[in-house]
Amino acid sequence: MITQLSRFSSGFLPNLSLLLIPKHFCLFRANESHLPANIIVLPFKLPKALNLRVHCGLELTDAAVRKIVIAGNWKMYKTQAEASEFLQGFIPELEKTPEDREVVVCVPFTALDILSKSLHGSRVRLGAQNVHWEDAGAYTGEIAGSMLTEIGVRYVIVGHSERRQYFCETDETVNQRLRAAQRHGLIPILCVGETKEQRDAGETESLISTQLEKDLVDVDQQQLVIAYEPIWAIGTGYTCESSEANRVIGLIRSQLKNPDVSIQYGGSVKPDNIDEIMAQPEIDGVLVGGASLAPASFARIVNFSS
Ligand code: PGA
Repeated sequence: MITQLSRFSSGFLPNLSLLLIPKHFCLFRANESHLPANIIVLPFKLPKALNLRVHCGLELTDAAVRKIVIAGNWKMYKTQAEASEFLQGFIPELEKTPEDREVVVCVPFTALDILSKSLHGSRVRLGAQNVHWEDAGAYTGEIAGSMLTEIGVRYVIVGHSERRQYFCETDETVNQRLRAAQRHGLIPILCVGETKEQRDAGETESLISTQLEKDLVDVDQQQLVIAYEPIWAIGTGYTCESSEANRVIGLIRSQLKNPDVSIQYGGSVKPDNIDEIMAQPEIDGVLVGGASLAPASFARIVNFSS
């Protein structure tokens, strides 16, 4: 199988006519045809230690193996009827969306079943907004992993700041929910981030470091997405500077055992700032609240220009 690899410009490789890339480097971001005609990328296995950037002068960073995940978080919005109406406007907008992007909608429990049926055969993945750590039991108002997977749910948001702030979610319960999600084959989207007060006090790095340390105990980092969501930027219209989001996400990555975890930015992501956010090298996707509720604006975000 011959695979082309994106994120190159032809100027990088004036003298090479054959380029061997390990197959796992080619799984994502592999659709744009930026390669010169004389370049072929083959799925050969190369030693991981081989530094392709140095040896070949390529702009081949870890980003090449990380999945782009664009997820909408509908929070407590949309009835079943409204969810179906959203899809009618949204699905046609995905015709030209590059294959390298995972598109996810994390919707209220009541909309999961109907969306699961309507999304069957589409490229949009279904996500929930909570999962309990037990497989079953007397936990009024909670939901078990098997109840989600039974209807085709693939992702689940865990540790969102609104859950931490309004529903007494702690790092310990976040950790339990993450492990339960993975036990059931769900991919958790773990949210971390600081308040305005913590940022002003210079505590951003230490706070996030502590969250990661506690939340990720015994969590499989191969089946995980992390969202950096500065709380002061959520629903406020104040976006974190993209370079600052990039810096914090780099710090998060440096603390992970698996540097290939996809790390999103979240907090007032809109059609007019998505291109700048996604141009940052450490940012692998976005978690979008308000702007994911309207088909046109979420479609513009999903179809960001790379
Ligand atoms: P927002 O929400 O995009 O409306 O700021 C983001 C989130 O809460 O995940």
